[in-house]
Amino acid sequence: GRAPQQQWSTRISFILAAAGAAVGLGNIWKFPYIAGENGGGAFILVYLACIALLGVPLLMAEVLIGRRGQQNPINSMARLAQEAGANPAWKNVGRLGVLTGFLLLSFYVVVAGWALAYIPVTASGTFTGLEPQAIGQRFDAHLEQPLVLIGWSTLVLLLTLGIVGRGVRKGLERAANLLMPLLFLFLVILVGYATTTGHFGAAVAFMFEPDFSKLTASGILVALGHAFFTLSIGGGAMMIYGSYLPPDVSIARTSMLVAVLDTAAALLAGLAIFPIVFAYGLEPGAGPGLIFVTLPIAFGQMPLGTLFGTLFFVMLSVAALTSAFSLIEPAIAWLTEKQGMSRLKASVLGGSGIWLLSLGTVLSFNLGAEWTLAGKTFFESLDYLTSGWMLPLGALLMALFTAWVMKPEITAYELGGESTGYRIWLLLIRFLAPVVILVIFLQAIGLIGL
Ligand code: PHE
Ligand code: NA
Repeated sequence: GRAPQQQWSTRISFILAAAGAAVGLGNIWKFPYIAGENGGGAFILVYLACIALLGVPLLMAEVLIGRRGQQNPINSMARLAQEAGANPAWKNVGRLGVLTGFLLLSFYVVVAGWALAYIPVTASGTFTGLEPQAIGQRFDAHLEQPLVLIGWSTLVLLLTLGIVGRGVRKGLERAANLLMPLLFLFLVILVGYATTTGHFGAAVAFMFEPDFSKLTASGILVALGHAFFTLSIGGGAMMIYGSYLPPDVSIARTSMLVAVLDTAAALLAGLAIFPIVFAYGLEPGAGPGLIFVTLPIAFGQMPLGTLFGTLFFVMLSVAALTSAFSLIEPAIAWLTEKQGMSRLKASVLGGSGIWLLSLGTVLSFNLGAEWTLAGKTFFESLDYLTSGWMLPLGALLMALFTAWVMKPEITAYELGGESTGYRIWLLLIRFLAPVVILVIFLQAIGLIGL
């Protein structure tokens, strides 16, 4: 196992760091706009069911592999395959995780860069009194300036490396202990602000009164896919954070708490955003521009909009940063543990690779807008490849591995004994998770039409 200084010092630190990994752009940027596009209440209900029935068990499986393996995802998988007497090729699941985090981070830093860029833009009162159209054009113009985008995403990457480079306790743990309470505080303040619009009730109704006529089969799949993405399942992030978990901490209880915090963040984000959107007669189904165009339109007209708008983008940046840590940590751990590099060297090397790849995303908004693959830009293709395929595939393989390859004595031991809870977990992970993920894949390749 790892030395104590290579582990979280408390249970709470793990929960905050893992919640930091989970709560990200997915909660604040993506969740509200996909909930908006898919009609609200019914979609959110399905999403909550996906989190509870699939998200939590899969999160437990991934954390379990990490905690048992006590190394980076590749070596952990290799060690556990050996322990189970299984094919050593299972370590490719670890490789897939490291690669997924790497690819995901390359466009995650770009979107996080939008958030960071919008802090000074909002704080300087840019949106005050600006016409809605002008605010939309402003965002388009922002995307069309490669050097500006590169500057902001580079800053995100440098901040990320500055924290991750310091290691588990001085870097990841300290940052999470400071940033996560702040993030939730800001979220609650923003919800409080949203109640002053007088449209809070409409937002609550939109989010929690299910209208099943608005629910489509593709909406269900979007909810499912997002449940993996939002909990950071299948990408090695939770595996590496799990590997820093001391042996006496309950995987079930901490995973559940992480899922609760992640869900709370998404719902609070919705409760902060939708009242504002409704108060100004704006569209909840505006798509990816909901945060960067629709919301600024409202901030530009609201009393104290500059102040709270700035707070919003600070909060979004914090959420994105703590997730970025977890996306590169699998690669850093692998480079240090397996290739014997110092953390500094590993950070510089890993960071450079991600930086180069991020240029592809930056250019896809402008120069490469015509360069598409199956109608998708480079940015959209990367997003689709990672969230649509790699994360679910990683999750499927981790489910199969823990449920069918690892010995039940071992998984039961790691999960605190053969209780009823353990048996339910095993059932969900053995049957429900693989079947549901398979359905996602069959639908994605068009073999079943939903
Ligand atoms: N869960 C993060 C979010 O919601 C994204 C993420 C996915 C982070 C996979 C790490 C690993 O934004
Ligand atoms: Na999330």
